[in-house]
Amino acid sequence: PSSRSNTATKGWQKVGTVAQLDKTGQLLAENSPIGAILVVGTSKDVKSLIAVNPTCSHEGCTIDWKAKESKFVCPCHGAEFARDGKLKRSPAKKPLKTYQTKIEAGSVFVKT
Ligand code: FES
Repeated sequence: PSSRSNTATKGWQKVGTVAQLDKTGQLLAENSPIGAILVVGTSKDVKSLIAVNPTCSHEGCTIDWKAKESKFVCPCHGAEFARDGKLKRSPAKKPLKTYQTKIEAGSVFVKT
């Protein structure tokens, strides 16, 4: 890709800051060079962090994270996805794309 932000480390895309993530438990970058990215979780439990492309595989709405139920739900037609992106409920037919995450120097990154 030719669009490269100056916050990019090779192979990793910055999504936002740890402070932003911990405020709400989620971090959304809608227009990153690799597309939309949604990270959910807390920096205090790095292993529990989840990163997905939040674009529903049905018709492209942005899915919501339901922390209590630990799943993603599409507001448009009710498709559901597990925390690992797996499809749980139609009408979507494909899983969500997921990314590996890391935290470095106060920022949250996903592997591109
Ligand atoms: Fe997500 Fe239709 S766009 S269920």
